[in-house]
Amino acid sequence: MQQVEQASVVVLGTGGTIAGTAAQAGDNIGYTAAQVTVDQLLDAIPMLPGALGGRRLVTEQVAQVDSKDMSVAIWRALAARCRHWLADASVQGIVITHGTDTLEETAWFLQTLLRPGKPVVLTCAMRPATSLAPDGPQNLLDAVAVVQDPAAQGVLAVCAGVVHGARDVRKNHPYRLDAFDSGDAGPLGYVEEGRVRWVKSVTFEADPVVKWSPDAIDLILDQPVWPWVEILTSHAGASGAVADLLVQGGVHGLVAACTGNGSLHHDLEASLLRAQAAGVDVVRATRCALGQVLPKAGDQLPHSNGLSPVKARVSLMLNRLAAQATR
Ligand code: SIN
Repeated sequence: MQQVEQASVVVLGTGGTIAGTAAQAGDNIGYTAAQVTVDQLLDAIPMLPGALGGRRLVTEQVAQVDSKDMSVAIWRALAARCRHWLADASVQGIVITHGTDTLEETAWFLQTLLRPGKPVVLTCAMRPATSLAPDGPQNLLDAVAVVQDPAAQGVLAVCAGVVHGARDVRKNHPYRLDAFDSGDAGPLGYVEEGRVRWVKSVTFEADPVVKWSPDAIDLILDQPVWPWVEILTSHAGASGAVADLLVQGGVHGLVAACTGNGSLHHDLEASLLRAQAAGVDVVRATRCALGQVLPKAGDQLPHSNGLSPVKARVSLMLNRLAAQATR
């Protein structure tokens, strides 16, 4: 008889407030992120074995960082570990514990790079593990429920009982426990008492911003130097001085966080057009919290296909990297 391997759920720790500690239990802002190991976080959830329903739990501490300090080196390590575990037939999916501050960037990075058929679920917390009422354990338990749901696929984010897709999720509040939303798209579902109630089907069509084939992943991950891409905000009194200096310094890409429907202060616009002419990749995203830049006749700078400035930066970097890797 063929031996059926026991299904597993993998949990990768990267730090964040979910792993944070404060000197005083009532302190939800004066804490240090990334102090508690992923094993300690899981050990603190007594109902976890029941939630896993006999599945094997595999854990790895990939990083231990406040996600404001997320780096290319950690992204590469995380992508490599995800790739390793996703290729294991016994693995049902991956949960990643992550800080809230750059969670949406990591989610988009992993989604566009890996395009996984299995679920990769990022979760987090707004209060440290030492809080009087920490939100991390419930979020982690919810992520474990999502990763085992047969309808789950691709990179998802779970926070405060809400499931978001990687393309749309964004942190929209610096303090509330329900700190994320999916903008105009709305969430994909809700986790209620260990069950996922999907309000949308989770499908990931080919994304217009992804400009390379999945075969290029190894080449991308092996590239020793990743492109230098910065974000510049257009605002009252903006100038082109910083963009000019960045181009002189050798920047590879610039994302403009534009006003409204992709408009730019004329001084910054002139400088970005010079940058584009000099071979720098330039993309316009809107700095508005909702909506996206709508293209119109006469646009001289491309738009971000609905990506926020931080996600447009990730895509610009990966597209440039893929072009460099497959040249
Ligand atoms: C972080 O992003 O690592 C710190 C903030 C948080 O997780 O809420």
